[in-house]
Amino acid sequence: MSNNASGNAAKPSSSVKLVLLGEAAVGKSSLVLRFVNNDFQENKEPTIGAAFLTQKIQLPNRVIKFEIWDTAGQERFASLAPMYYRNAQAALVVYDLTKPTSLIKAKHWVAELQRQASPGIVIALVGNKLDLCAEPSDSEAATPTPSESAESDTADAEDAEAAEVGDARKVPTREAKSYAEEESLLFFETSAKLGTNVSDVFTAIANAIPEKELKPGKGAGTGRGTDSAISNAAGSAGQATVNLADRAKQQKDNCAC
Ligand code: GTP
Ligand code: MG
Repeated sequence: MSNNASGNAAKPSSSVKLVLLGEAAVGKSSLVLRFVNNDFQENKEPTIGAAFLTQKIQLPNRVIKFEIWDTAGQERFASLAPMYYRNAQAALVVYDLTKPTSLIKAKHWVAELQRQASPGIVIALVGNKLDLCAEPSDSEAATPTPSESAESDTADAEDAEAAEVGDARKVPTREAKSYAEEESLLFFETSAKLGTNVSDVFTAIANAIPEKELKPGKGAGTGRGTDSAISNAAGSAGQATVNLADRAKQQKDNCAC
């Protein structure tokens, strides 16, 4: 197959089923809203059941249409999750950088996906709410400097300084990153609020899905680029149908399942 990657020429289009999982209020729906509508809501209501949205992105030689299942993080909906991750080719497991328990929950989701989802599933671990963290934290920024670490009161001083600059970070980059490396996960820190790294996560996922896993979509891509060609079954609020359990059962028969 020869790909000449010319910008406007018709490109092969593939659909990718992607599921978002994570504790309540970590920002799953906000990440989707940012990706699909380039929007953010300060007081976003909790998802009930799940929301379904789609968004296309352009890669150099193909168009990927993400079919996104944004699940509800509240515990009472946890039993529905397998319906949404079944046959998913990609998962975004989200935690809140200001809430360590949400990383623990994220690890549980990763373990469950590794046990029960499709063997080739591409998983991205995403620490959200980066805007609440003072450091840019794009590499090992959270790693203590060896020359300073001998002093026992360094941590206290750092905490005091962090409080002053409004740093609410509670999960160091290095901790989540090394876990992600151990488990072969993609890893990003994002802000749905500011849009930081959001499209990068989806682009990295699209690039990480092996070509043989890609199902042909309908016709050639018409998307104009990342964050374009919105087909949003959930409406502008990004919140889809309430209680999608029945619909999800139907989907099992005719979607990626
Ligand atoms: P459930 O649907 O209950 O599972 O929650 P969720 O994970 O979908 O979280 P949601 O997107 O509803 O966001 C929860 C709250 O966090 C909302 O008030 C958002 O405005 C806020 N929020 C989401 N992302 C960010 C972010 O990147 N930065 C900040 N500061 N707030 C965010
Ligand atoms: Mg939600």
